[in-house]
Amino acid sequence: MAVLYPGSFDPPHNGHIDIVNQAVQIFGEVVVAAMYNPEKHTGMFTLDERLGLLEEVFGKVKHVRVIAFPGLAIDAAASVGVTAIVKGVRNAGDFDVEQQMAQTNFAVSGIRTVYLPSDPSMSFISSRFVREIAQYGGDVSSMVPVVVANELKLRFPHKGDRG
Ligand code: PNS
Repeated sequence: MAVLYPGSFDPPHNGHIDIVNQAVQIFGEVVVAAMYNPEKHTGMFTLDERLGLLEEVFGKVKHVRVIAFPGLAIDAAASVGVTAIVKGVRNAGDFDVEQQMAQTNFAVSGIRTVYLPSDPSMSFISSRFVREIAQYGGDVSSMVPVVVANELKLRFPHKGDRG
């Protein structure tokens, strides 16, 4: 069974990779969809750039496909022919947000959402703080895949690397 894993992925981090791995193990196939979150207007990467990063992270991973979809998650699910969504949950704050989205998506489309608890070693990681630390020249390499760390370092050289 294939499932959709929608998210902002701005940028993708190790917690996202954990959720994709969990979802592949459980469901067999995952479509990772970079999307807009209308609540978040302070993004760093464009949708196309996020798709590019996801392609580099998951391009060679079996049973994982990546897309960018500038619309509703339920329409993204329909467009790739999947009938369930997966979301990662790190804490109670995530749960509150995800529960409302899952119930709304079900009410308007019948598509179910399955929550996957994040690995405890990843549950502190957020794209928001990755962006914030990187923007000030901090080192985020422990929280993101190498391709993302390199891209961030290009845009925001580390403090120690500046002349
Ligand atoms: O990584 P995020 O920011 O938690 O992901 C949230 C996302 C992008 C999955 C959510 O905002 C979303 O589904 N956006 C697409 C628009 C949509 O479907 N809105 C209806 C929500 S009930």
